[in-house]
Amino acid sequence: MTKADVVSAEPVVLGIETSCDETGVGIVRGGTLLADAVASSVEEHARFGGVVPEVASRAHLEAMVPMVDRACEHAGVGLEQVDAVAVTSGPGLAGALMVGVAAAKALASSLGVPLYGVNHLSAHVAVDVVDHGPLPEPVVALLVSGGHSNLLLVPDVTQEVRSLGATMDDAAGEAFDKVARVLGLPFPGGPHIDRAAREGTVEIDFPRALTGTRDLQRHRFDFSFSGLKTAVARWVALRAESGEPVPVADVAASFQEAVVDVLTAKAVDACREAGVDHLLIGGGVAANSRLREVAAARCDRVGLRLRVPRPGLCTDNGAMVAAWGSLAVTAGRAPSSPDLAVDSSQPVEQIRA
Ligand code: KG4
Ligand code: ZN
Repeated sequence: MTKADVVSAEPVVLGIETSCDETGVGIVRGGTLLADAVASSVEEHARFGGVVPEVASRAHLEAMVPMVDRACEHAGVGLEQVDAVAVTSGPGLAGALMVGVAAAKALASSLGVPLYGVNHLSAHVAVDVVDHGPLPEPVVALLVSGGHSNLLLVPDVTQEVRSLGATMDDAAGEAFDKVARVLGLPFPGGPHIDRAAREGTVEIDFPRALTGTRDLQRHRFDFSFSGLKTAVARWVALRAESGEPVPVADVAASFQEAVVDVLTAKAVDACREAGVDHLLIGGGVAANSRLREVAAARCDRVGLRLRVPRPGLCTDNGAMVAAWGSLAVTAGRAPSSPDLAVDSSQPVEQIRA
């Protein structure tokens, strides 16, 4: 077998992710993850209770070269062995995306390899190939993160993604972060609520938005979490006013149950309506232990197969971008223009830059 055969069968793709506060550089060969280097600026944002765009951009700038070096070292791959570079072109924070795209352009042009700009959400779907093998297509994907809550029908992650529904206000992860703040838990709140909820009981009946009969006619696969967040804040404020201690673990468990209930019910319905037998869950909130548990039970009950990447690949990382790039190269997709632009509000159906 010549080197050319090896390259065409198993391309080495370097992926760069900088849409929010993680600087991720991943390397994938064929369907195998070789390296996943991630630096996070989350601690720099914690005291502001949310990601500060300028702080994130500067952190990406500082972390980019060290993460490229670390990924190559872990993968045991020299840059000269990279066959293609993929990068998140949107959606996300404009300045943060620009750092990643500039780095990807510099690498691709200096190495003389093709450049692929990819939608962040498609990359969240694609990453599951490195954990669970080729994607069943079509698949329904539930993507839940700090910036997004989407239900997607994915006939082909490299060229066709359809939106079935999305959040009308806060993203699921945003709701976790805001409720955590109300409960005095650190940012980002998701993992802290997940942990606190394990010690609590689901005993407060918080609202499940867009699940009533009339809502289901117009917003069957849409979500809304801002009313839930307000309901939790009011419940906590009333309790505090009465002078009684706030049962943090019970509130966390009850809030989490409301989110998980709506997400999993709609995702399972979407699969059945689309006639699809696989559900994939991705994005930072997919790291939630209760979401994974309830999704598994509900899928099992109706004979659906569930795919959720390991928690470390659910939150933002470069491996997901490299995984998408690897699928695109293997499928023979044309690369992006070498002067591709970032698109901070790239629509979910626009897979490529
Ligand atoms: O995908 P991601 O890393 O970044 C975005 O694209 O937003 O998702 C981050 C979000 C945050 O809102 C964080 O609170 C949430 O994912 N998250 C979780 C858990 N781990 C991270 N939410 C619930 N439970 C978790 N275990
Ligand atoms: Zn994400």
